[in-house]
Amino acid sequence: MPPKKIKQVSELTEWEWEELDSGKQSLVSAAQKALETAYAPYSQFLVGAAVLLDNENVFAASNQENVSFPVGTCAERLALGYAYGQFPKAKPLKIAIAARRTSDLSTYAAVTPCGMCRQSISEYEVLFGQEMEILILTPQKTVLIGEGIKQFLPFKFEDLNR
Ligand code: THU
Repeated sequence: MPPKKIKQVSELTEWEWEELDSGKQSLVSAAQKALETAYAPYSQFLVGAAVLLDNENVFAASNQENVSFPVGTCAERLALGYAYGQFPKAKPLKIAIAARRTSDLSTYAAVTPCGMCRQSISEYEVLFGQEMEILILTPQKTVLIGEGIKQFLPFKFEDLNR
């Protein structure tokens, strides 16, 4: 008998800018603006993230690097921690991410959240019982949308007994 298969299928949708509602457009715009404050002298990779809470507040942050490389922190985790720090009871509903390379400021770089950020997004999803919509700006100025971190982090670690 072959073993039982357990599959997880991921799905992103791709949207033209004009197809996005104004709320999504302004969240992605907030991520684009935030990357301008990146401190990324080592990677030259500028990332901005913006989190929308269910009380309609938006908190944005950028990646902040360190000469001791692992100390650097991604934009996504800073934005999520910043948002929680201001409104610990508000659910994060959406997170938008945008990136550029200092070597080519004329276009956006394709970025998806790193593994640590995926796990961090998962933590807030589990805590609030609310999946986040994850919006990613592409170099073509389209926006990829994933419904929940499960689209990026299949078989993710969480306390299965909770
Ligand atoms: N980075 C982010 O801030 N978010 C991502 O989703 C990917 C990577 C940062 C980490 C580091 O400062 C730089 O981008 C290059 O990896």
